[in-house]
Amino acid sequence: MASIELRDVRKSYGAVDVIKGVDLDIKHGEFCVFVGPSGCGKSTLLRMISGLEDITGGEIAIGGDVVNTVPAADRGLAMVFQSYALYPHMTVRQNLSFGLENINTPKAEIAEKITSVAKMLQIDMLLDRRPKDLSGGQRQRVAIGRAVVREPKVFLFDEPLSNLDAELRVDMRGEIASLHRRLGNTMIYVTHDQVEAMTMADKIAVLKLGEVEQFGAPLELYNTPRNLFVAGFIGSPKMNFLAGRIEDGDRGELVLPSGERVLIPEDGYDQRPGQEVTLGIRPTEMQPAADGPVSIEVKSVEQLGGESYIYGTTRDGTPLTVHSPGQTRVRIGETIALGVPPGQIHLFDTQSGLSLLGS
Ligand SMILES: Nc1ncnc2c1ncn2[C@@H]1O[C@H](COP(=O)(O)OP(=O)(O)O)[C@@H](O)[C@H]1O
Ligand SMILES: [Mg+2]
Repeated sequence: MASIELRDVRKSYGAVDVIKGVDLDIKHGEFCVFVGPSGCGKSTLLRMISGLEDITGGEIAIGGDVVNTVPAADRGLAMVFQSYALYPHMTVRQNLSFGLENINTPKAEIAEKITSVAKMLQIDMLLDRRPKDLSGGQRQRVAIGRAVVREPKVFLFDEPLSNLDAELRVDMRGEIASLHRRLGNTMIYVTHDQVEAMTMADKIAVLKLGEVEQFGAPLELYNTPRNLFVAGFIGSPKMNFLAGRIEDGDRGELVLPSGERVLIPEDGYDQRPGQEVTLGIRPTEMQPAADGPVSIEVKSVEQLGGESYIYGTTRDGTPLTVHSPGQTRVRIGETIALGVPPGQIHLFDTQSGLSLLGS
């Protein structure tokens, strides 16, 4: 069993705290994605789990055993990086066998493993080529194959698809997900791309400045973001935010700086009269409606045929996005009213950024 537990894991470079106390429980067989903006500490955290980086504080356990002082080579992990450094002078077969030869695996066993892994990753017809004669996607598959033949307990991926073009990225995303289903190993996958996180993960850890903002299943994060950061980071197009103030003496109405009033849910939220709050609503949930409470001036319209985007600003200058299925008649320069269905509203305390969703 290869569960992974992090307890108050910390990393400092001199006086700079890069990882500020991370607690995570990753279950055996789970596909866990670390997502967050560039520089938030994803690679550092992954490298500490792998043993390539020592930790400043806390505890890391793999399969229940604390591995703080266990060298990388003895942790039973395999890592795939963005720069999939294959050996250029070796064939694909040699690239795959190299690690196994190093640990004196019998020749017949190596051959058997390579055949089966090459078939699984559809690189069996490429075994005698050199990396320069492969496409980017094929190279990345060889890099993954090199990790798979070692039969690690845990796979660690650090932005393995960032160098590929968009279409190939989508294909490889599917292949890694199906590899996970077939092997059933614990996997940790680092990316700055929330779409990759949403489509591949069993569990997502959203990181910001070295701290976990929220850890949960993709739809849990999408439906009940804990704070403004997660709300704005997960989901595409991004959630719209409207800052306002709860009406004095009334928990059920939000007053915007424009004076417009929006009905908000009273049940399930902990807002108090007079509180400064930020209303979040996804662009898919805010549609043009003649009697809608918020109006925008339309600044641009994107018609994609099967769907359309309307971009505008409210009377107080807040940018808003509307995403509609199908085609729209809305034109640039028009002022349109938008519906704000109370059931689709997220509420956050403006100052702390925390969700007001009651527990
Ligand atoms: N060896 C190092 N010395 C000092 N700072 C570092 C070092 N490695 C990483 N950092 C800093 O740690 C932070 C997190 O880096 P990293 O884990 O690479 O982020 P991510 O992978 O999320 O983009 C960044 O601010 C980076 O500058
Ligand atoms: Mg990184």
